[in-house]
Amino acid sequence: MAAPTIKLNNGKEMPSVGLGLWKLDNDIAADTIYEAIKQGYRLFDGACDYGNEVECGQGVARAIKDGLVTREELFITSKLWNSFHDPERVVPICKKQLQDWGLDYFDLYLIHFPISLVYVDPSVRYPPGWEDADGNHTLGKASVESTYHAMEQVYEQGLAKSIGISNYNAALIIDLLAYAKIKPQVLQIEHHPYLVQQPLVDLCQKNGIAITAYSSFGPQSFLELMDKAGKVPLLFEHPLIKGLAAKYGKNEGQVLLRWATQRGLAVIPKSKNAGRLRSNIDLNFDMTPEELAQVSSLDQGLRFNAPPNYGIDIPIFA
Ligand SMILES: NC(=O)c1ccc[n+]([C@@H]2O[C@H](COP(=O)([O-])OP(=O)(O)OC[C@H]3O[C@@H](n4cnc5c(N)ncnc54)[C@H](OP(=O)(O)O)[C@@H]3O)[C@@H](O)[C@H]2O)c1
Repeated sequence: MAAPTIKLNNGKEMPSVGLGLWKLDNDIAADTIYEAIKQGYRLFDGACDYGNEVECGQGVARAIKDGLVTREELFITSKLWNSFHDPERVVPICKKQLQDWGLDYFDLYLIHFPISLVYVDPSVRYPPGWEDADGNHTLGKASVESTYHAMEQVYEQGLAKSIGISNYNAALIIDLLAYAKIKPQVLQIEHHPYLVQQPLVDLCQKNGIAITAYSSFGPQSFLELMDKAGKVPLLFEHPLIKGLAAKYGKNEGQVLLRWATQRGLAVIPKSKNAGRLRSNIDLNFDMTPEELAQVSSLDQGLRFNAPPNYGIDIPIFA
């Protein structure tokens, strides 16, 4: 069953549940996307940095060829990596990413992080990751304003039907609203009960910017990357989350995802497992406002996806 949609500020509709593609291994990416489309997924959240855009595109192409879905029914997101922030690099790299996917347009193209790294030519390394050609973490010179204006060209040229930002804080968004000719349609942020970010959510909702939550399961996808993830109780084992799951006859993942969608956010859980794919999109139940508030009260301002947590000394959230 397809997920309900969220109306963006340009009139486009974005599914409220999609599949995250980070860490989806290349050898299973195409089959996982194909299976997800069969199960009703229409939104796919990719990025240059995930290194699997070619294989993801193959899954989409097979599903379209087999008549499971049309291109127009899909909502495909990709992201501009940090080393392509120089304004003259933005349109060309977006076109390369479209070619990798085998698409004419993205439904949404986001600035992945508000930080510019020095350019690495795709012929040297692709995706480049956080390192320059010599293996160092070297900042670039592009301001986020100059990069955003290049994103507006992506939009105006029809390479993306919507554009947006990711990992921006409130100050950056307030600044962006002062210079944007095209208001961003979407902000994508880390968001789970340990990192609720209510003032940021309020700011975006007041300004008509839709929010997509990533890492909805909190520590789960960071267990292999960092020690800190292991030092807080897993959300799947938290008594409050377990209690709600039991009350509604759902699993803990569904409770965490539904908490976010009831707050008006879209979610993009990643799973390579057919059963978890099925349950993650099956969010047809409502918790009470009191229960939503109880889940929100687990907030600890605890962020997992900060570069210093995985050995990169660029403290963008400090
Ligand atoms: N903009 C950004 O900077 C940014 C950063 C991080 C993520 N993202 C996007 O957000 C997506 C989701 O975030 P994420 O990948 O960090 O993590 P996530 O979706 O919160 O968690 C994924 C992990 O949880 C497991 N899982 C999935 N469904 C489950 C369920 N129902 N019960 C138990 N375990 C479950 C997955 O394993 P299995 O695969 O084995 O099920 C995987 O290990 C990413 O894939 C990416 O598209 C964006």
